[in-house]
Amino acid sequence: MLDNLFTKTRSHRSFDSTKIGFENLESMVNAARFGGSARNSQTLRFTLVNSESLCQKIFPHTAWAGAIPWSPTSEESPRAYILVSSLKDSPLSPISLGIDIGIASQNILLKATDLGFGGCLIASFNKADVSNTLDLDLEIYVPQLLIALGKSTDKVIITEGNVTNLKYHRDVHTSTHYVPKLPLSTLILKKF
Ligand SMILES: Cc1cc2nc3c(=O)[nH]c(=O)nc-3n(C[C@H](O)[C@H](O)[C@H](O)COP(=O)(O)O)c2cc1C
Repeated sequence: MLDNLFTKTRSHRSFDSTKIGFENLESMVNAARFGGSARNSQTLRFTLVNSESLCQKIFPHTAWAGAIPWSPTSEESPRAYILVSSLKDSPLSPISLGIDIGIASQNILLKATDLGFGGCLIASFNKADVSNTLDLDLEIYVPQLLIALGKSTDKVIITEGNVTNLKYHRDVHTSTHYVPKLPLSTLILKKF
């Protein structure tokens, strides 16, 4: 059952017009709340967006699927976002902070899948413009990662990858995205 959740939790990049209510966005952040945190510092803060007009304002400041010449249209664009920010005075090293962000973000994506939604972690976004749109106080917070969310219209298929070719590709006619993953035997270095 958990394996199914892991395989279903892919990066989804096109969405229908279904709105995501704040109660669902809050339960995603609640999933992040239970994640581990270096030194238990809990220095991440979350901005929830489901307003149609704000989603439309954010969308042009995001970059999608850099490996392929395709991006979602504004009709297919996310219906909600969670901006993950850290406290500017976070005591964590960059690696620890990055791990905290990763754990929180993956918990959010897993919960989104559990609720019937899909999403994509977006590191390529214009931090100044998105912070400005969301009135984020840059004296206190540092925008780190944007999580795009919605009801997915993508089909995502995992294929077997190899170290010389890990490029994902997409069949634009069927909105099917193919993601190569390395086989387990490649990942495990040694067994003692
Ligand atoms: C830290 C991080 C940043 C990412 N940034 C972007 C991004 O800016 N735009 C995008 O379309 N996908 C982004 N992705 C999604 C990756 O492209 C995706 O995870 C990868 O292709 C594997 O697909 P999968 O998530 O379905 O396993 C990001 C993923 C991670 C973990």
